[in-house]
Amino acid sequence: MDWNREILEKPMWKEEIKNREQKEILASRMAEKVQDGDVIGFGSGSTSYLTAIKIAEKCQKENLKIIAIPTSYEIKMLCTYLNIPTASLEEKKPDWCFDGADEVDHDNWMIKGRGAAMFNEKLNIKSAKQTYILVDESKIVNKLGTNFPIPVEVNPKAINLVKQEIYNMGAEEITLRMALKKDGPVITENGNIILDVRFKDIDETLERRLKNITGVIETGLFIGYNVEILK
Ligand code: A5P
Repeated sequence: MDWNREILEKPMWKEEIKNREQKEILASRMAEKVQDGDVIGFGSGSTSYLTAIKIAEKCQKENLKIIAIPTSYEIKMLCTYLNIPTASLEEKKPDWCFDGADEVDHDNWMIKGRGAAMFNEKLNIKSAKQTYILVDESKIVNKLGTNFPIPVEVNPKAINLVKQEIYNMGAEEITLRMALKKDGPVITENGNIILDVRFKDIDETLERRLKNITGVIETGLFIGYNVEILK
């Protein structure tokens, strides 16, 4: 028996989508790549949201059957609304993934995680043969950290230890990310908190050094990943 109310009344993003026109063009290009039977890692954020809608339209029009591996509750709920079946990484391996990014530099190093979903996003990217990162022109930077801090997902018990260690590594500023429509901090899909960290310089060892701190679950630095940037 089905519930008589949908999870979402209609698909909606929480705020006006910046650079929506560019994002929609990228979303349509991405949807063109979908083939019957694909298992696809679905990223998070507004670009991924628009892409999921375009993919659902294509699947409906051409009667394609796909399975999504969503990286956040937000995208999982959208998939349910769009009648796209979902699975977890324990059940399925993605053939390919798509996602957005907050910043991409000329070596394709990225900062992601404004949506706090970078742990699941990294799992999908590492599990798939191919990942497409869809970025409008506002995301391209000469130097990572220009517009966004690095999000670091931390087990709540470790907050003081991790802060101390990151300051010892030379961080300029560390901020606990607070929720907008709830009292207290943002809690990730994995029950952790997010520290937004600013470093003056980001080098190729920083992702590994941050990950090495006990209590750090994941970081939003993506250095040297196998991704194709669509812009
Ligand atoms: C989600 O955790 C992020 O990594 C997003 O992919 C990133 O913030 C891009 O967001 P927009 O597509 O909304 O610009």
